[in-house]
Amino acid sequence: MGFFDTPDIGIDLGTSTTLCYVSGRGIVIMEPSVVALDKDDNHVVAFGRDAKEMIGRTPGKIIAQKPLRKGVISDYTLTERMLKYFIDKAIGKKSFRKPRVVICIPSGATEVERKAVEDATYQAGAREVEILEEPYAAAIGAGLSVEEPRGNMIIDIGGGTTDVAVISYNGIVCCESLKLGGDDFDEAVVKYMKETKELSIGLTTAEVIKRELGCAIKRADVAPLDVKGRSISGYPQTKTITSDDMLDAFAEPVNRILETVHNVFDKTPPELAADIFDSGIYMTGGGSLLYGLPQFLHDKTGIDVVLAKDPVGCVINGVAYYIKKVYGRRDIFK
Ligand SMILES: Nc1ncnc2c1ncn2[C@@H]1O[C@H](COP(=O)(O)OP(=O)(O)OP(=O)(O)O)[C@@H](O)[C@H]1O
Ligand SMILES: [Mg+2]
Repeated sequence: MGFFDTPDIGIDLGTSTTLCYVSGRGIVIMEPSVVALDKDDNHVVAFGRDAKEMIGRTPGKIIAQKPLRKGVISDYTLTERMLKYFIDKAIGKKSFRKPRVVICIPSGATEVERKAVEDATYQAGAREVEILEEPYAAAIGAGLSVEEPRGNMIIDIGGGTTDVAVISYNGIVCCESLKLGGDDFDEAVVKYMKETKELSIGLTTAEVIKRELGCAIKRADVAPLDVKGRSISGYPQTKTITSDDMLDAFAEPVNRILETVHNVFDKTPPELAADIFDSGIYMTGGGSLLYGLPQFLHDKTGIDVVLAKDPVGCVINGVAYYIKKVYGRRDIFK
């Protein structure tokens, strides 16, 4: 790379986490998609990891804001500012030229949402913006041969969305995007604890329970857990829960994911469905790490379900591969 060349940047703008890849350097950013705001005058105090670390350690007037919900932009201005922060941090210094950016969005995003991400990326300092669909990038990152005229199925479960897509010959043949992800599992735990155990808990505790006890199939490898919360009468209380409780708690969201897989199979041309039957379904995204989820989907569909290597990194690894392959060949001063 010459002195005046600007690297290309790849971004996985996730509901939970944003990852950035810089050509020639690799993945340089993996931070929560969070902004810390001063409640009094709404000014931004910190972004990303710094923002997350501030929450709870500073006076109550600093609040955490997630600019993205359910995989799409819910606060445009904050998203743009967060993107600018990450892009500047990724490049490291003010560059001679603005960078080219390849950015991922969920497959179910509408034209308006797509345009919003594109505009925000230009506003954040990109000179060229290319949008890649998340399941396509996830499939590349999972090591699937997306260029061949063969059907591959990918299930990407993020924080806010589940994308189920069939990919063949470099394109998405059919897909469905469900506005349900790992964060909804946390909410399912909160709801279950309230309705069944009459205990109020927060989302942070719910996520810990999900990771430790959560499951989509029966599990025998974990001991019951004592959970602290607030009783209906408002006093602190402890309740003991088991992984069987979690099986109940997750039944609904897990079945909605299964339903989405069924819907996509309904739309899949028979030849491609036969390919998927041979090669299996691949799962990516942090939500796929819920204990037994691949096994549950295998039991219900009769098809092999494989958890990809490094499920959380698949999308950004796919973007990185795409940048190397497509931009690597192009003249940077075209
Ligand atoms: N070990 C684990 N067990 C269960 N869930 C997990 C585990 N690790 C991460 N998760 C969940 O994965 C989710 C985040 O996944 P990921 O980082 O792929 O999301 P994202 O790309 O930011 O979101 P999206 O693609 O929806 O915009 C969170 O809900 C998190 O709780
Ligand atoms: Mg994602």
